[in-house]
Amino acid sequence: MGTTAPRPQRLTDAQAPGLLVAREDELAAISGLLAAESGALRALVLEGAPGIGKTSLWERGIALGHEHGLRVLSARASGAETGLPFAAVIDLLDGVTSEELAELPSPQLHALNVALYREDPGETPPEPHAIALGLVSALRALATDRPLMVAVDDAFAAAEARLTNRCHYAQSLRPAA
Ligand SMILES: Nc1ncnc2c1ncn2[C@@H]1O[C@H](COP(=O)(O)OP(=O)(O)OP(=O)(O)O)[C@@H](O)[C@H]1O
Ligand SMILES: [Mg+2]
Repeated sequence: MGTTAPRPQRLTDAQAPGLLVAREDELAAISGLLAAESGALRALVLEGAPGIGKTSLWERGIALGHEHGLRVLSARASGAETGLPFAAVIDLLDGVTSEELAELPSPQLHALNVALYREDPGETPPEPHAIALGLVSALRALATDRPLMVAVDDAFAAAEARLTNRCHYAQSLRPAA
């Protein structure tokens, strides 16, 4: 009888629904992120084999973010808007009102609003670059009011939806002076 290489185990709902088994280290990492001092920019990437529990931890992280009083913006690859251009941007800014974005520089605001299907594109569709800058400005503006958590599930899929390739902008994101 031959042996086979161990395969990643897919945990099932039958195992204690709602309870995350053996994820103390990961939950501690999330808690550490949430305990960051106010004004600090922190990032956490959850990686793992298919079915290992990344989305479950992501959901738990979002719940913990709410418990800590953070405003949480989230995007998931399976959202209803998947397939639309800038689907993850639409998902992230769902619930953010136009009034909250009103202070953005107008070219960025227009580009972002077109991406969000809140404004007509006009004769010249906005450049993806302008949309990306608008997203960064929006996140920065929202983060001045209260601590902000940005949670993206399945970032590789989001990259296909053209969000993650804008993430180098987020690396320069700092709270406004
Ligand atoms: N730590 C855990 N303890 C118990 N059940 C878990 C745990 N993590 C995940 N599960 C269960 O395993 C299944 C798969 O989890 P999940 O969807 O979070 O994995 P995933 O890594 O996001 O999968 P994919 O790679 O397909 O996106 C779900 O039914 C979930 O409830
Ligand atoms: Mg998943």
